[in-house]
Amino acid sequence: MTYVVVEACIKCKYMDCVEVCPVDCFYEGENMLVIDPDVCIDCGVCEPECPVEAIKADTESGLERWLALNAEYAKTWPNITQKGTPPADAKEFDQVGQKYETYFSEKPGSGS
Ligand code: SF4
Ligand code: F3S
Repeated sequence: MTYVVVEACIKCKYMDCVEVCPVDCFYEGENMLVIDPDVCIDCGVCEPECPVEAIKADTESGLERWLALNAEYAKTWPNITQKGTPPADAKEFDQVGQKYETYFSEKPGSGS
């Protein structure tokens, strides 16, 4: 089992999750973060930190696609351990659904 970052993170990227992780397993893309499923110890402390509920236990149904995406991009995006500045327009995307098709970016973030 692991926790995974899901669609709600895209374009919100609040980063409240990163500093509580005891094993530093968040990785930063241009528009979202992912968790490395091979390193996550399933402690769950990051889950309530996210204001848009973008962190889920992979035991929830229907998350296979997000587990695969987290695993894939954790290999290439830079590690992030410190909260940066969220996107200026993050709030505008809090309630937006179906963000993947329009806003997902394969580009890496800057990490920290
Ligand atoms: Fe890190 Fe724990 Fe969240 Fe896994 S569940 S990403 S180990 S804080
Ligand atoms: Fe994303 Fe929520 Fe963390 S929006 S960056 S999973 S605090």
